[in-house]
Amino acid sequence: MKSAHNLAVIVGSVRENRFGPTVASWAAEQAAAHGGFEVHTVDLADYDLPLALPDASPKHAGDDYPRPAGMAPLTAALTRADAFLVVTPEYNHSYPASLKAAVDWHFTQWAAKPVAFVSYGGAAGGRHAVLHLENVLSELHAVTIRDGLAFPLLYTEWRDGSPVDPDAPGYAKTMLDQLAWWAGALRTAREAIPYPA
Ligand SMILES: Cc1cc2nc3c(=O)[nH]c(=O)nc-3n(C[C@H](O)[C@H](O)[C@H](O)COP(=O)(O)O)c2cc1C
Repeated sequence: MKSAHNLAVIVGSVRENRFGPTVASWAAEQAAAHGGFEVHTVDLADYDLPLALPDASPKHAGDDYPRPAGMAPLTAALTRADAFLVVTPEYNHSYPASLKAAVDWHFTQWAAKPVAFVSYGGAAGGRHAVLHLENVLSELHAVTIRDGLAFPLLYTEWRDGSPVDPDAPGYAKTMLDQLAWWAGALRTAREAIPYPA
């Protein structure tokens, strides 16, 4: 049996007084309890993530892509990951610019790897954000996981760092089972044959 999959739990919001770390911390706990993952929290607030991109494209430049030194630990964490769990809020019916920057500065780091989503926000629970992310990540050859968690009305539906809904851990397990299946299948495939991106 292969070792646990390296899972990057990405904290997508970098706003002052953000709620994101609360959701990400709960999601990381669920992933650790699942047993199939070695869990690493990757908080986008910890890295240099400028909006202005270089002239070259990360798709064509590969390892020579000129990223800022302060982004190097983020790039290394994304490169090492076998799977991603993106924790995203909804801003104006989409996902935050910080997350788009993290996506756009990379290419091979996403390709042929699975991505699951935990979203939160107002009435729609971040579903608009996730729909947009699914669309964008498919352009980077990532595989998005069908089942995700969407937490609406976060101000009343979270208490003491956890969702009020008692079924949430069960939904998380279903999502993580699917993510682990895809992480194993895609890791085996990447190791057997280089992905033709
Ligand atoms: C600029 C901005 C736009 C927002 N737009 C939406 C929205 O379209 N839909 C929604 O459900 N919540 C929206 N919200 C509420 C956020 O989902 C909520 O504030 C959440 O806590 C943001 O995540 P964060 O605290 O981790 O940054 C918005 C918040 C901000 C700051």
